[in-house]
Amino acid sequence: MSKAFDNLRLYAGVVKRVGYTLTLGMLHSGFRDELLKLYNSCSGQEPSGDDTPMDPFVIPKTDVFELFGNDAAAYEGVYECGFGHTTEFELKVISNLVKKWNPRRIFEIGTFQGRTTLNMALNSGSDTEIVTLDLPAGELASTKMDIEDGEVRYVKKEVSGERFIGHPAASKIRQVFGDSASFSFDEYKDSVDVAFIDGSHAYEYVLNDSEKVFPIMRKGGLIIWHDYTNWPGVWTALNELYEHDSRFRGLRHIGGTSIAILTL
Ligand SMILES: C[S@@+](CC[C@H](N)C(=O)[O-])C[C@H]1O[C@@H](n2cnc3c(N)ncnc32)[C@H](O)[C@@H]1O
Repeated sequence: MSKAFDNLRLYAGVVKRVGYTLTLGMLHSGFRDELLKLYNSCSGQEPSGDDTPMDPFVIPKTDVFELFGNDAAAYEGVYECGFGHTTEFELKVISNLVKKWNPRRIFEIGTFQGRTTLNMALNSGSDTEIVTLDLPAGELASTKMDIEDGEVRYVKKEVSGERFIGHPAASKIRQVFGDSASFSFDEYKDSVDVAFIDGSHAYEYVLNDSEKVFPIMRKGGLIIWHDYTNWPGVWTALNELYEHDSRFRGLRHIGGTSIAILTL
């Protein structure tokens, strides 16, 4: 009953948002961006393989880091984002967080093309190890729990980690494969300073992945979640953890992004 109510609330929220986006929202660039994303996703373009941004805006970009001069990070492929990636600004935020935390080991759940993996490698020390876990396409049908239909395309990419394979920074990156629900994290116990959770966005998986990274984190470590504002499974799980599990009371959402963080 409460699930049906939740779905109804979600549906009503979507109708309200679409209505606003198509009317008053046209006056705001953020909502125009949403329309552009919707247009791109419905225009028959298959994102896999070609991530050329469909951006009709000619005005040069800037952001708060550039304006206020406190962007300490280095980037590659920051503007080459499309489906399944962090946004440009989110990548800068993650890169700056990594730089600030100066981690000895990073653990990422969900490699995809490895754009964030590469940038985390570029912004950490020469002896940092970045472990990135990805679900092989061949294991799609045998995951322990159901992943969302909308993310199958990210599992079925041609190459996992193509953005860093062959790059000099790849020597710091260790690729591991498996389903995060059955993967053994034991080897990494108490050794991770930054974890990036961006695998399956299904509610059960977000709960699973959030639980699985806890024992591998060092004290003072940082957990980063992506897509808090974009996927119902992510926000439902994180809201629930924040409200009902005292270990997650320190969760914070970074404004202007879909990133949530927790410092341990
Ligand atoms: C949105 S993409 C990750 C994007 C990447 N972190 C980035 O920032 O560019 C999601 C990734 O999670 C992987 N994935 C999905 N379900 C998974 C699971 N159960 N275990 C491990 N990886 C999973 C997919 O194969 C895909 O590569």
